[in-house]
Amino acid sequence: MSTSKKAARLLGRRNGPNRAGGMTVLVAGGAGFIGSHLCDRLVQRGHRVICVDNLYTGRLDNVRPLLNHPDFVFIEHDVRDRLVVAEPVERVYNLACAASPRHYQNDPIGTMNTCVVGAHNLLELAREKSARILQASTSEVYGDPEQHPQREDYVGHVNPIGPRACYDEGKRAAETLFFDYHRLYGLPIKVARIFNTYGPRMLENDGRVVSNFIVQALRNEPITIYGDGSQTRSFCYVDDLLFGLELLMESPLTVTGPCNLGNPQEVTICDIARLILAQTESASTLDFRPLPIDDPKRRRPVIDRALELLGWRPRAPLDAGLRATIGYFAMKLSAPEDGMRAAAKDTRDRPPRCTPRLAAATTSDSLVH
Ligand SMILES: NC(=O)c1ccc[n+]([C@@H]2O[C@H](COP(=O)([O-])OP(=O)(O)OC[C@H]3O[C@@H](n4cnc5c(N)ncnc54)[C@H](O)[C@@H]3O)[C@@H](O)[C@H]2O)c1
Repeated sequence: MSTSKKAARLLGRRNGPNRAGGMTVLVAGGAGFIGSHLCDRLVQRGHRVICVDNLYTGRLDNVRPLLNHPDFVFIEHDVRDRLVVAEPVERVYNLACAASPRHYQNDPIGTMNTCVVGAHNLLELAREKSARILQASTSEVYGDPEQHPQREDYVGHVNPIGPRACYDEGKRAAETLFFDYHRLYGLPIKVARIFNTYGPRMLENDGRVVSNFIVQALRNEPITIYGDGSQTRSFCYVDDLLFGLELLMESPLTVTGPCNLGNPQEVTICDIARLILAQTESASTLDFRPLPIDDPKRRRPVIDRALELLGWRPRAPLDAGLRATIGYFAMKLSAPEDGMRAAAKDTRDRPPRCTPRLAAATTSDSLVH
């Protein structure tokens, strides 16, 4: 069977994206960058969505258009506390955890507890409801990898006492819990190891490469590059990632993962900066700073497993994904609100540089699926 047919089959697309009789899906971390796109998509597919979030890095604005939808419920809740849901739940996505180093290092003990206690609470909920549960794990479980590119059977090279450990080790422990629930209770689990993902609704001030560079470029501020910029990353457009997460969730019960989801196209940090500078026609210069502790030098997923089991591979070209993301930030900068206010405060003497052409470019988040 061709890979795209396999993918369509897993999601039951023959019935169309809005088929009736959808499931009840709980999305923890649903007001965040990836989670809010996932909520949009699940509601569009005809599912009832319960979005659970403590709004630490998520924003109600991300899900505001859904708030009046009859099949969408928002619950402000911290997953470190036990969650009681009265109605049946068939799917649980656990995305609850700040993903940017700036935010997860800001509260390292909270991060570790969110990863571990939060996962435990959601696993208990899934067990009680006999629901499938998917863990948004991360390429950070590979640490600063000694093997390149990274396959799922690589056990990683993580510093357990460094400043990134609260996240890396927290996510590793969460994977352990998932597999123990699977072994002990036969709970249907799915573990996705997500590599760098970008797109509209990233927080502008969280220090992640793509959002940082775009906001700096749009403001004509120097682009901050840590190290000499030769370190590589592979960037996956959010739309591609969502499709992979859904496919993994709906894959046969024998498929537990871990499954890498990311874009194997590797680019250097300097390359991505240049691409963004070109697309924004920015006058920004490059500002090189020392590399943070434990910053991985190289990252690239092997996605053979996702291709074979799910028929998944990313399709959005980097330049198209960046264009959509730049358009989003250009719009945000031209109408500052919530988090943008904080970021804008630092640069109030420099008016944002947002051309109408860029703002007009953000019409849809969806590039491919
Ligand atoms: N974006 C990436 O490149 C990437 C890469 C690898 C893994 N991931 C994982 O995917 C998930 C989503 O990432 P994202 O980029 O959307 O990050 P994000 O910070 O935008 O979203 C995380 C969401 O979880 C919520 N949250 C945090 N702690 C919580 C708690 N204790 N209780 C309830 N809600 C809580 C936040 O408010 C936010 O809405 C995370 O688990 C992250 O580790 C993301």
